[in-house]
Amino acid sequence: MVVTLFGLGFVGLTTAVAFADMGITVYGIEVNEKRRSTIAAGKLPFHEPGLGEGLDRTLGKTFFVDVPVEEAVSKSDAVYYCVGTPYGKDGQADLSYLYGAIDQTLPAVSKDGFTVLVTKSTVPPSTTKDMVIPYIEKQGYTVGGNIGVANNPEFLREGHCWDDVVNADRIVLGVSDERSEKVLRKLYQGYTCPVHTVTLNTGEYIKYLSNTLLATLISWSNEMSLVADNIGDIQIAEAFRILHEDSRWGTPACNMATYAYPGAGYGGYCLPKDTNALFARSKALGYEPKMLGQTIAVNDAMPSAIAKIIERKVSSPEQVIGLCGLSFKPESDDTRDTPAAKIVAALNKDGYTNILGYDPLAIPEFKQYYAQLKMGFKESYDELVASSDVLVITTAWKEFSDLPEKAADKPIVDARYLL
Ligand SMILES: NC(=O)c1ccc[n+]([C@@H]2O[C@H](COP(=O)([O-])OP(=O)(O)OC[C@H]3O[C@@H](n4cnc5c(N)ncnc54)[C@H](O)[C@@H]3O)[C@@H](O)[C@H]2O)c1
Repeated sequence: MVVTLFGLGFVGLTTAVAFADMGITVYGIEVNEKRRSTIAAGKLPFHEPGLGEGLDRTLGKTFFVDVPVEEAVSKSDAVYYCVGTPYGKDGQADLSYLYGAIDQTLPAVSKDGFTVLVTKSTVPPSTTKDMVIPYIEKQGYTVGGNIGVANNPEFLREGHCWDDVVNADRIVLGVSDERSEKVLRKLYQGYTCPVHTVTLNTGEYIKYLSNTLLATLISWSNEMSLVADNIGDIQIAEAFRILHEDSRWGTPACNMATYAYPGAGYGGYCLPKDTNALFARSKALGYEPKMLGQTIAVNDAMPSAIAKIIERKVSSPEQVIGLCGLSFKPESDDTRDTPAAKIVAALNKDGYTNILGYDPLAIPEFKQYYAQLKMGFKESYDELVASSDVLVITTAWKEFSDLPEKAADKPIVDARYLL
């Protein structure tokens, strides 16, 4: 089997290495030259435990990142799209990277064989059927001849990418023809988990069922934390931990329970854009989702709610606010849509600019993406604590658990309910 895969980010690189590790020949295509050359040199462009060892085993053997697109696609049984699908107009998913990769693919598809074009990027339900297929046909190509079309959503969590992909709990294949299904089932024949074949729209919908449920659990928890904070004298973290002892979560409390826990709002690349994209798609088709709208509204309001809690602890704007954590979650250097940046923006708006930040991994990423924020950085946790008057846990890195001892005499806002 031969696969070409466009986009070597968290999803694409992990998928490429996992396929290559099973003996499938994988050609990786990446437009970001810095990212491509980092991978070509055998290094990871981001922090992901386990993925580096897989890259060592496969690079140059079954995984190649220096083969021209035309050659790679012409030899492939499947072409995977793992490109970004960021916020577009009115919250809709921006499909321009997907269309760009399809444009590069079509002229190179072998006329004699059969190639399945598979969207692994997260795209709202009906995208493959109502947008991708018409897009391909508008370019003069026929879906159903030498070209098949499918989707294969990805459920990995950043920080656990490798483990989540190689030990997937389910594989979802959105397909509309037997030949595409056969190719995709063959790719996943080494997997022991259930491999489900569903319609194109269902495949995409399952991914959004998952992400919108997670987002809703988080927003519900955050709203409840604000209710508790408003009433006062409520041990919020303790209350949620006791909630998790309900045996209906499973014993010990299942991983899903970790989403029913308050924090600073959901961030990262997926939940913010995916909740907005499904909301926008449904609204555009005539039904405005009410709960989903509130999930988004609660999340959007969290950074300024946390900023107000911080401001209650600061006696004057001259005092230094120290943020422990900048990535959107622990064990990751991803700062896309990170609550820490939104909290700083809210504090800046309220006139607070004496802000310092520290993170075990994410300072370079954060500095690159949020240069407009008024704040400084400390290279160590100890320095941050020593230089700050008020400390805020903005990312639940385990190493911040000793903050009460380290900063014994200083006010602490535990925005992640870590303590
Ligand atoms: N990050 C996650 O946790 C996660 C989980 C499940 C699904 N997803 C979805 O998977 C998709 C990718 O997410 P990601 O986090 O891996 O994104 P990413 O930004 O890390 O990677 C996307 C890559 O695609 C590259 N790219 C764009 N156009 C290209 C082209 N024409 N040819 C080659 N490369 C191209 C970009 O340079 C980038 O490196 C998104 O739709 C996302 O919603 C992400």
